[in-house]
Amino acid sequence: MFSQEVYWQRRKQLHKLIKGGLLLFPGNEESAMNYRANTYHFRQDSTFLYFFGLNQPGLAAICDLDSGEDILYGDDLTIEDIVWEGEKPGMREKANSIGVEIIRGASAFGNDVKAAIKSGRAVQILPPYRGDGVIRLAEVFGSAVEKVNSFVSEDFIKAVVTLRSVKDQYEVKEIEKAVDVSYIMHTTAMKMGFPGNYERELAGAIEGIALSHGGPVSFPVILSMDGQILHNHNHDNELVEGRMVITDAGAESSMGYAGDITRTFPVGGKFSTRQKDIYQIVLDANMNAIKNCAPGVRNLDLHLGASKVIAGGLKDLGLLKGNVDEIVAAGAHALFFPHGLGHMMGLDVHDMEGLGENYVGYNDTIKRSDQFGLAYLRLGRELEPGFVITIEPGIYFIPTLIDIWKKENKHAAFINYSKVEEYIDFGGVRIEDDILITDSGYKVLGTPIPKTVDEVEKTMNG
Ligand code: GLY
Repeated sequence: MFSQEVYWQRRKQLHKLIKGGLLLFPGNEESAMNYRANTYHFRQDSTFLYFFGLNQPGLAAICDLDSGEDILYGDDLTIEDIVWEGEKPGMREKANSIGVEIIRGASAFGNDVKAAIKSGRAVQILPPYRGDGVIRLAEVFGSAVEKVNSFVSEDFIKAVVTLRSVKDQYEVKEIEKAVDVSYIMHTTAMKMGFPGNYERELAGAIEGIALSHGGPVSFPVILSMDGQILHNHNHDNELVEGRMVITDAGAESSMGYAGDITRTFPVGGKFSTRQKDIYQIVLDANMNAIKNCAPGVRNLDLHLGASKVIAGGLKDLGLLKGNVDEIVAAGAHALFFPHGLGHMMGLDVHDMEGLGENYVGYNDTIKRSDQFGLAYLRLGRELEPGFVITIEPGIYFIPTLIDIWKKENKHAAFINYSKVEEYIDFGGVRIEDDILITDSGYKVLGTPIPKTVDEVEKTMNG
């Protein structure tokens, strides 16, 4: 955990940003897998972690904006808990560790909220995202489950987004720890990338690396020769020569901060000419976008810049035709690059996505596009010092999408469909790094992970 001062200061900032009422922070509870006592890995709510730092179930908190008090709710362990789960710090010790003076029992949370509602005070929540959390809040509010969202506060969301968007030096250190573990994960996957191995062996090995370094993975491992499926969690293929493997995976630090890295390598450790051609275009797009990272730059423009590198490269290979600016303006390149360049990263791998993507990535001047591909850009707004973002361009050959567009003759002025058909079984390439925006530019976080053709081949064969 960070020092109590860090959490105390964060809450102090929050108190300054919103006027009046109660801010509720229901921590997450254990989540049952197949029966109540057999639970998934516990994951605390990220906003609770940010302001209250305690990574255990059974907790809730309130910031009372009128009195200026912060209150932590929870119970000390029973002897039964201690027998089954061991000794843990008591509530007073927990509260001290985060600079909270007032503690109350878990059941007082509902009573305090009910009393506040009864006396007409503004009770504000962030959007709940777990079913059990919604039910719990409905009980506390004495409302129907469908009415819980009426307590969601835009002011609360915006204040949290303002604070969590800018990472301090301690948070950046945590993210770097996660990326450093991700380095081991990715170089391990590369070294295992030979015919006869199964995707699941690579996926299992790298997930184990994350666990052995103290955190789980920051999201379910994406690892497949079928990299054209953007979020492919299926790991059943046996690796075969001639295919490429996309590994999109990261560790979570023991304090909950994410790493999120993607590398693509050729099965067998040697790029063919065709693989190298496509890979180099994606690498150019990745490196060009990173080079242009700086405060004041709109991520939307980085995305469009990467799209132009991709369109230009595919034009040189004969898959696209016409003017590159016009190709990108029309969205024809999205046949091959149908997702956004990247997203914010922090305590969530898609940081704060649960609060509403548009609050995080867009604002009054930069609105989300509804064009296919560009519409998936999670972050369009201007970058600021302290933002941590991913840069993750890709090129994919998605047979069903190609089929549909071809039948519709979509963007036929720009797409050379007969040439595209030659790549139909190619799969995909994505290359992703985690970037801190600094006062003067950017920093690529963590130990550099092999990325050029030469570096990848050397790692695989070394
Ligand atoms: N790396 C997974 C994602 O960005 O969705």
